[in-house]
Amino acid sequence: MPDRILVAYATRTGTTAGVAEVIGETLAEGGLAVDVRPMHDVSDLAPYRAVVAGSAINGAQWLPDALAWVRDHRPELIRRPFAAFLVCMTLAMPGDPHHEEVRQWLQPVRDLVPTAREGLFAGALDISQLPSWRAKVNFSVSVRLGVWSEGDHRDWDAIRAWAKELRLLFAPGVRP
Ligand SMILES: Cc1cc2nc3c(=O)[nH]c(=O)nc-3n(C[C@H](O)[C@H](O)[C@H](O)COP(=O)(O)O)c2cc1C
Repeated sequence: MPDRILVAYATRTGTTAGVAEVIGETLAEGGLAVDVRPMHDVSDLAPYRAVVAGSAINGAQWLPDALAWVRDHRPELIRRPFAAFLVCMTLAMPGDPHHEEVRQWLQPVRDLVPTAREGLFAGALDISQLPSWRAKVNFSVSVRLGVWSEGDHRDWDAIRAWAKELRLLFAPGVRP
């Protein structure tokens, strides 16, 4: 019987890796055996009893390689407790944080594998780290227009609180 929990993530600029690490640490503090790994490094789910999968949002979607990973592993994932999260800048916008709109961005994941829990987290923006000139220009304009601000907007307390809920869900013997 597999006994480990997998926290798998996909990132472009590193923010989501940090979120995954804190989720993993919080699960481990609850006595669970946890591996935190980039999705592209994980091909075998046999050692894992439950899976948490998360991706950065680009263009109002999970990264394409993250969705492809869930699709490829669907037969194994639907037989395990499965939680999904996303990391995006929309939740770092001032005022109304658009939770309902952001929740829709997980629909393609839900369509593949039912989610026992979903986490929606604000990310970070460092324009110097963006992968293309186009992204740098677009984000510079959006910062200048006041859509959001540069910096690290990750809410570590909210991320830890979510991971604590997962501890209960992933406790041995609990069915979601
Ligand atoms: C090319 C690109 C497109 C993005 N598109 C969106 C978007 O549509 N909505 C959003 O809320 N955030 C968007 N973001 C912001 C990222 O989701 C955010 O910066 C996140 O923290 C990045 O995570 P990562 O460092 O793990 O890649 C985009 C970022 C990039 C680089």
